Amino acid sequence: MNSLLQDAARAGASVGMAADTITITGGTPLNGSVRVRGAKNLVTKAMVAALLGETPSTLRDVPKISDVRVVRGLLGAHGVKITDGDEDGELILDPSAVESAHFAEINAHAGSSRIPILFCGPLLHRLGEAFIPDLGGCRIGDRPIDFHLDVLRQFGAIVEKLPSGIRLSAPQRLRGTKVELPYPSVGATEQVLLTAVRAQGTTELRGAAIEPEIMDLINILQKMGAVISVDTDRVIRIEGVDRLEGYTHRALFDRNEAASWAAAALATEGDIFVAGAKQAEMGTFLNVFRKVGGVFEIQDDGIRFRHPGTPLNPVIIETDVHPGFMTDWQQPLVVALTKATGVSIVHETVYEQRFGFVDALIEMGATIQVHRECLGSQACRFGQRNFQHSAVISGPSALRAADIAVPDLRGGFSHVVAALSAEGASRVSNVGIISRGYENFFEKLTALGANFTLEA
Ligand code: EPZ
Repeated sequence: MNSLLQDAARAGASVGMAADTITITGGTPLNGSVRVRGAKNLVTKAMVAALLGETPSTLRDVPKISDVRVVRGLLGAHGVKITDGDEDGELILDPSAVESAHFAEINAHAGSSRIPILFCGPLLHRLGEAFIPDLGGCRIGDRPIDFHLDVLRQFGAIVEKLPSGIRLSAPQRLRGTKVELPYPSVGATEQVLLTAVRAQGTTELRGAAIEPEIMDLINILQKMGAVISVDTDRVIRIEGVDRLEGYTHRALFDRNEAASWAAAALATEGDIFVAGAKQAEMGTFLNVFRKVGGVFEIQDDGIRFRHPGTPLNPVIIETDVHPGFMTDWQQPLVVALTKATGVSIVHETVYEQRFGFVDALIEMGATIQVHRECLGSQACRFGQRNFQHSAVISGPSALRAADIAVPDLRGGFSHVVAALSAEGASRVSNVGIISRGYENFFEKLTALGANFTLEA
């Protein structure tokens, strides 16, 4: 094992923190097994939910990723005591001494994350005020927060835009309200849930996101004492309560990481068992994986994904909100589609600028064109606007090595997979981003037989 990996393993940190450039020699199929733990897009929100409890919470299967470290820092800045439990990946979060944090400290911790926006509801309930610094997150679209601020105003919060960020206050107790989201935003739905549970009266949310991560957050809030009913047709009703207790919960597995490794098995002609992956939350992905020609086996403790050994088929994919094909799955899968025999189409309907990553694939020899039109069966929000949000991928292409830089989290995974399936040695820089959402990424690559070296 490379000395950098040993140092990092000893430091208990994912090596992504240390190295920012990696040299990958392609051509080796990825074979073996990896384990996925709690979902980045649930665990970070579950940690924020602990703020709502009067007593400590215990969260299990928390992955060692930098987004978790960001939230840990932010909670610490607000007086939440966080300790590691006996089980690996167990966190105990004690909010009994919650206090306001100086905005400079919030800024220092917020870094590249969007999570601070979800602190609003809990802090307004606990402290009567909250502060949101400029938000980060992957540059895959404009990513406005208008839905969030609109719903917080509807609960009765006062929103002040300052040069340093946004200050919110609640002179009175927040009140239940009727909300209709213009688009089933995951973040805005979580905002409503984390605010309505302790608001006075009932909240009716229409147009809600119903992703598995949302359902698992609802499980957690119900464990804390909340009253939440999920109706058909994206309607969620929340009856506010006066007091919530801490929860004990094992986080839902990370279906985005599982789908990424499945795509890597296809692109490298490999065979990967993903321990911890489950069928129910990945139904739509498994259908597409099979249509491309991939073979999967559902086992009690995970899912095995492998290349069929025969040419891959082209497919037409339209990303959408759950239960549609998830936007976070398209970037890793596009690499595999460059090897399919024929023309695939990916119509990205969730984010308007999520094809920046294809430039590097084109440089490596892929045949990909991006278009402003909605190249799918349904016109989307971006149709009449000047966004390149559809991609036409013609294959099969033999990728060749190149020097490339990682643009964002899922784009980063796709770049590493492209280099692993290319002819020759690629230098991939800015790989530190990948550790935001993939735990022990380089250790897993090593376990799967990847041929690479890390540059300190
Ligand atoms: C969450 O982002 C995830 N991030 C994203 O995963 C994921 O892609 C996304 O949900 C969709 O599933 C986390 O959970 C931390 P949204 P979020 O609000 O909540 C527009 C990854 O790679 N919108 O559902 O920020 C927005 O611009 C990341 O793990 C508004 O217009 O996503 C986008 O077009 C990337 N105004 C759409 O809604 C608002 O106020 C969906 O955004 C809020 C959102």
